[in-house]
Order: sequence, then C-alpha cells, then structure tokens
Amino acid sequence: MADLRVKFCGLDFKNPILVASAEPSNSVANIKKCIDNGAAGVVVKTIGDIPAFRQLTKNSKYCILNDKTRPIEGKVPRSFTFYSRSGYISQPHEEWIPILKETVEYARQNDSHIIGNVTGGTLQGWVDLAKMTEDCGVSMLEINLQHGAPPELADRAKGHYIACDPEMTAEITRRVTEAVSIPVMAKQTPEAVSLTAVARAAQGAGAAAVCVNSRFKGFATDIETGKPYIDGPAGVGGPWIKPLTLRWVQEIYSQLGMEIAGSNGIYDGKDAIEFLMSGARVMQVCSILMLKGIEWLPKMINDVETFMDSHGYADIDSLYGISARAAVTSFPELLKAPRVEATINRETCLYPKCNACTRMCFYDVMRPGENQVDINIKNCIGCQLCMNTCPTGSITMVPEGTSAA
Ligand SMILES: Cc1cc2nc3c(=O)[nH]c(=O)nc-3n(C[C@H](O)[C@H](O)[C@H](O)COP(=O)(O)O)c2cc1C
Ligand code: SF4
Ligand code: SF4
Repeated sequence: MADLRVKFCGLDFKNPILVASAEPSNSVANIKKCIDNGAAGVVVKTIGDIPAFRQLTKNSKYCILNDKTRPIEGKVPRSFTFYSRSGYISQPHEEWIPILKETVEYARQNDSHIIGNVTGGTLQGWVDLAKMTEDCGVSMLEINLQHGAPPELADRAKGHYIACDPEMTAEITRRVTEAVSIPVMAKQTPEAVSLTAVARAAQGAGAAAVCVNSRFKGFATDIETGKPYIDGPAGVGGPWIKPLTLRWVQEIYSQLGMEIAGSNGIYDGKDAIEFLMSGARVMQVCSILMLKGIEWLPKMINDVETFMDSHGYADIDSLYGISARAAVTSFPELLKAPRVEATINRETCLYPKCNACTRMCFYDVMRPGENQVDINIKNCIGCQLCMNTCPTGSITMVPEGTSAA
C-alpha cells in the first residue's frame, strides 16, 4: 500500500489532505470532526481583531450555481460555482485561546495538526495575533493576506489586498516571522498580477511556505429580478478554477522551489493528485466539504491512496512536482517538439452524416468532399482540434509525412 505520509515545512503529516481555513474549521466540534474524518491538518478559520469582519460572518450568504451559473436545486453537480460571502471567526480573538488549546491537544492525540490562521487590523495586531496563536501550541501559522492593508501601509495599498503587493506581503510576513518561531505560510490571492513575485517576497521575508491560493471575487446576477444573488460581489470558486490555480503552483514550484499548500478548485482525490504532480506538497480543501459535508474527506484520502496503488506510486515524493518538471515552458523547446499531422480512418468516419472536422479545422485541411472528407494535408499544423471534436474517434495524429490523406 502506498505511503501517504508527507513532510511539509519540517512537520510530518499522515497524508497530504488538510482542511482549509473556513466554516469547516470554525468551532471545536467542526475541527474535531475534520480530524475524526482523517484530515492530516486543519487550518483554523481566520482569527482577526477587526470587529466588522467578525460581524460579517453572522451575515454570511451562500449560493451554489450550476454550469449555467444559475442556482442549483438539490444535488450538487460535478461542475459548480460556489458564490459566497463570509468573514472571520465571529468571537473576539481572546475567546479562541482555550479553543485552540483544546483542538491542538485533540490533534496531537490523533496524528493531526492544528494550523493557526490570522489577519491583523494593524501591524502590531498581526504580531499579537501571531504570538497568541503560537502560544496555544499550533504546529504552524498561516497568515491570511487576502485582506486590506493595515492603516500604516494604506497609502501603499491603494485599496488592494496585501497579497496583491510583494512589498506589503514582505513587510507583514517579516513582522510575523520575526515574532514567532513556528513555520509561517503566506496565503495568496489569485487577484495578484504575479503570484510568483508575491511568493518570492514572502520567501525572502522568512515564510516557510505559501498557500496557493484563496478565491477570486466574482459577481452573479439573477436576471429575473435584475439583482445580484447574494447582495453583491463575493468569493467565487469551484472545480473549473483548478487550471488557473495550478498555473501558479507550477510556476512557483519551478522558479522558487518553495513548499506549497495547494488550494482553490479541489473536488476529489484525483484533483489532489494533480496538485501534487504540479508542485504542491499538501492540499487545503474547503468548498467541497461545505457542499458535501466533512464526511467527504475519507473518500478523498482513499481516492489518493487507490490512485497511487493502481499507478505504482510508492510514496508522495514519487508524485511530487513530476508534471511541473515535465512542463515545456520556453519557445525554443516548444519548437523542437516532433511534428504530427491528422489522418482519418475512413471505415469509422460518418461523413456526410457528420462533418464536424470540416467545420472545426481552421487551416483549410479538412474540406467537404463528394463522398468523403477531402484532406489538404500540406496545410495541417497538427493542432489536434479535429481529433478532439470527432465524435467517432476516427481522427488520429501521426508523424508528419505519414498521413493516409
Ligand atoms: C465560505 C468560505 C469561507 C472562507 N473563509 C476563509 C477564512 O476565514 N480565511 C481564509 O484564509 N480563507 C477562507 N476561505 C478560503 C478557503 O480557505 C480556500 O482557500 C478557498 O475556498 C479555496 O479552496 P476550495 O476550492 O477547496 O474551496 C473561505 C472560503 C469559503 C468558501
Ligand atoms: S469529425 Fe470524424 S466522423 Fe465526422 S466527418 Fe470528420 S472524421 Fe468523420
Ligand atoms: S490537426 Fe488541426 S490543422 Fe490539422 S486537420 Fe486537424 S484541425 Fe486541421
């Protein structure tokens, strides 16, 4: 059986699936339930010192949209958008001291970890919250930088999140890493221009890892009422976002070699495998637990193990970053790739009942003929669009010069 244990920030996790900072980690009962269901670590919902953000959580609104971006009724589809608004932990931060201590102890007894997550309203607030959380015994600390700047940095922020700006990220990260001795992970926003630049700044300021990343802000309207579904702009995410998240996971892994917790777009164990292969060492999951229940966790963990066993991966290190390292990213290398062209199996082709490839080829290769598709092979660039859209699998790609055109 595959060994799921993984080292992350110097800590030993029993598997790579952690629960992200959100509602599934907002109380003792929920955190214990995550641990009971196999989570290797739980990132506590953000503890903050700004009363308005605590109040906001009591006005949370959730809307689940289908692939037409209309609200679902009942069953959650494989392709969904979670459009939702919440805030930080509702209670004043001091009230979380006993809660953190209790859950840290529970995690210790169950081979799991509690990871703090804080956001300060001032520079001193960041430091105080970080120290408070460390003193409760958490294994490591995530700093939630998807937040407006403290007043001391407001002129630099120009209304953007801290994590949109490398300099502000470095400033907050440095203050926190100098104040605590546990590993610090900087949580990124997808709204930054370059997450790699922000991650580099966090790394330079002492962060042991980055979480890539939180969610985009979006907007969705009910066209019957002419109003947004949940009052206004709010977080959006779902399985469709995964390739956008992985783009940054791959880049940060490849350029900085930094440890990454992947988050944003994970539905099941196979998604977690994709994150691992793209360069994340652990994953943080949220939306799918809110839509399927915390009981979804064992299935995810089991799926990771089943995949590894069936594909001969003995441990997490044998998966880690393999696709990031296989990625071709430079033009000269791309141009060296072997050239291919399309060929049609006339036995299975349905022409003229089907003529999809003649409509889907934009290089004037596939042409409507009298009784069959005529192929003008000298124009073929090997883009594969016809192969992907042929309903009968009659098109394959073959080395240049060998098409049976
Ligand atoms: C309802 C909700 C509340 C969230 N609250 C927090 C939070 O308090 N702190 C934080 O750092 N991230 C928060 N997040 C972001 C998640 O931790 C996570 O990074 C994000 O949802 C992407 O993961 P997913 O695709 O598995 O949902 C929240 C997300 C949702 C959907
Ligand atoms: S898309 Fe496939 S089935 Fe349709 S005409 Fe082209 S080769 Fe034939
Ligand atoms: S591979 Fe691309 S260019 Fe070649 S025939 Fe198919 S669609 Fe046209």
